[in-house]
Amino acid sequence: MKLAQRIFAIGCSAVIISALAFGADKKGDAKKGQEVFENSACMGCHNTDNDEKRGNAPALKGLYKKAGVTDAKVLDKVNKGGNGMPPYDEQLEPAQKTDLIAYLKTL
Ligand code: HEC
Repeated sequence: MKLAQRIFAIGCSAVIISALAFGADKKGDAKKGQEVFENSACMGCHNTDNDEKRGNAPALKGLYKKAGVTDAKVLDKVNKGGNGMPPYDEQLEPAQKTDLIAYLKTL
């Protein structure tokens, strides 16, 4: 390969890699979101693998299959809490919340 070609190839890969990274950031990373979920006590209150309510906390399994559930509503609940749920507005970074939402969508 000629040097110019090689530089071109490296440049292309860099663009593709940054596009992928940026895309993942925007949509959220469900795997990271699961870590956030496990490390933010969400797990302590919410079931994710069955439909059973724990205390007042509804199970989050199939959350996004419920009518009327939107990213905005979920984000609002996570930020403000209420009715027995603590607010996470200050505790979590915006990117962590995006990841969290991506994870909740997989449930
Ligand atoms: C101390 C217990 C507790 C913790 C910790 C907790 N929640 Fe909750 N959560 C609740 C309760 C109770 C409700 C129901 C509130 C209501 O009825 O308004 C709720 C509601 C929700 C809802 C709305 C569910 C629906 O069906 O509409 C979502 C989404 C949610 N929580 C996500 C989370 C996430 C994500 C975390 C961690 C960042 C978390 N919760 C941590 C107790 C908790």
